[in-house]
Parts: sequence; C-alpha cells; structure tokens
Amino acid sequence: MPDNLLKGKLGIITGALDENSIAWKTALKAKEQGARFVLTNAPIAMRMGAINDLAKECDTIVIPADATSTEDIEKLYAEAKEYLGGNFDFILHSIGMSPNIRKGRSYGDLNYDWAMKSYDVSAVSFHKMMQVAEQKDVMNEWGSIVGLSYIAAQQVFPFYTDMADAKALLESIARGYGYRFGKLKKVRVNTISQSPTKTTAGTGIGGFDSFYNFADALSPLGNASAEACAEYIVTMFSDYTRLVTMQNLFHDGGYSFTGVSEEIMEKFKDL
Ligand code: NAI
Repeated sequence: MPDNLLKGKLGIITGALDENSIAWKTALKAKEQGARFVLTNAPIAMRMGAINDLAKECDTIVIPADATSTEDIEKLYAEAKEYLGGNFDFILHSIGMSPNIRKGRSYGDLNYDWAMKSYDVSAVSFHKMMQVAEQKDVMNEWGSIVGLSYIAAQQVFPFYTDMADAKALLESIARGYGYRFGKLKKVRVNTISQSPTKTTAGTGIGGFDSFYNFADALSPLGNASAEACAEYIVTMFSDYTRLVTMQNLFHDGGYSFTGVSEEIMEKFKDL
C-alpha cells in the first residue's frame, strides 16, 4: 500500500453522513495518507451526530454548510482556510438527494419543485462550490476537485428518475468548470462514476437490492466497494493524476463496458 500520498495537502470533504458513506471512507483514507481537511455536511445531517465521531478520529472539525447556499459555502471556505492555515488542494463533492425518489414518485409523475431541489442539491451545488472557490481564490495550483456520479447519466435505469438528469448535469458541470479552472489555476475537475453502493443515498433508491446484485453479476471484477472508491478518490487528489481533468471516470468493476456476463446468461437459460 502507498504511504503519504497526500502528505501536506489540505482540503474539504463533504457528505459524510455515517460510516457507510463514501465520504466517510474517503476521510479515513485521506487522513491515513497524510492529508489535513475539514468535514462538512448540511446542518440537518449534523443532528445525527455521527460526523462528530469521524471528526475526532480524523483530528479535525466539522463546519455545517448547506451546499445549495452560496453564503454557507463562503463561510465554510473562510472558516476552513483559517483552521487549516492555507488554501485547498482538494475538494470532494459527495452530495446527492432527490425528494421525488424519497417519496416514491415515478419519472412520469415528478413534482417539479422537488425535481428542482434534486438538481440543486445533487448537481448545481457542485457548480456553486467551484464558483465560490474561484471567486474567493481558495484553490492551490494543481489542486483537484472530485464529484460522485452514477452511470444513469448515460444509460436508462428507470428507478433512478430525476437523479439521472441530475447526474448528467453534474458530469456536464465537471467538464465546463474543468476547462475554466484548468486555464485559471491548473485545477482539475472530474467525476467518478461509482458502482451501486450500500449507503443511505444508495439504498433509498427503489429496487436497490436487485439492481445491486445484477451489477455485481455483470461486472467482471464485481461491484466496487465504498472503500475502493475512497482509494480511487485519494489517487485523484494525489500528484499522480495531475493531468487528468474534465473526465467522467468509471469506477465500477468493468460494468460500463460489459454487454453481458456468463452469470447473467445462466439465469436466462431455459426460460
Ligand atoms: P450518503 O447518503 O452517505 O451521502 C449523501 C450525502 O449528501 C449525505 O451526507 C447528505 O447529508 C448530503 N447532503 C444532502 N443534501 C445536502 C445539502 N443540501 N448540503 C450538503 N450536503 C447534503 O450516500 P453516498 O452513497 O455516500 O452518496 C455520496 C455521493 O455518491 C452522492 O453524490 C451519490 O449520488 C453518489 N453515488 C452513490 C452511489 C450509491 O449507490 N450509493 C452510486 C454512485 C454515486
């Protein structure tokens, strides 16, 4: 295993809700690899309290911020900069939520106010975090910004409803801002398209279990775990990936490029 990949690097990690969260695992890995960072989540998520245990473990603080509020993001950056004593080398956007999915609305029965909320929380907040970072000039040169996506941005997964559109927007924002931040400050911006993962956001999606098992049976390497995703994120924050930008990077055990597997074919034999 590599050692100190993120030594001396400073950053922000959003989205650690509980120990299953991809962001939670990322915080532990980043700490293990020598990074210093601040944790943040929506004020409402603080009530669960678990994030304070993570902060203790990572020897850091939690700064509440609603990622849809530019004022909250400004405050987050100012306080994090003061606490860490410098600008940031990395930002993880690990945020997703759809009221339509939560309330079981189908794609043909969307509540549009809720759909706007899904896009704002899950995609536009990525733009907001980068726009405020640019305006407040809080990124170091050769910094790295990562958002988390899902393959429903490219292929249809009927139960993913408005989150599919949110993820398509998220990936588009990574390209648009990746170009801009690359020119401005040599900062790279990418999305990682992760396998279905058993987290609060993941398991909230209708039919999650069967589709988790399907993806596992299709992928030659099996589903990628949250911990493996955390390791990939850490590599994307490290100096070994400095020229990778504006990409949507599949971290899915090979799912995205597999048409069918023997395991799936076996299940359809003699139907
Ligand atoms: P999670 O439920 O642990 O994390 C989602 C986080 O978003 C929570 O910490 C929640 O408090 C935060 N959040 C919601 N609204 C917010 C707001 N207004 N401001 C700030 N934070 C807010 O679940 P998970 O799976 O770790 O999700 C992280 C990211 O990974 C999300 O973007 C999700 O869509 C993505 N992803 C998840 C997959 C899965 O199957 N679990 C697959 C592919 C991508």
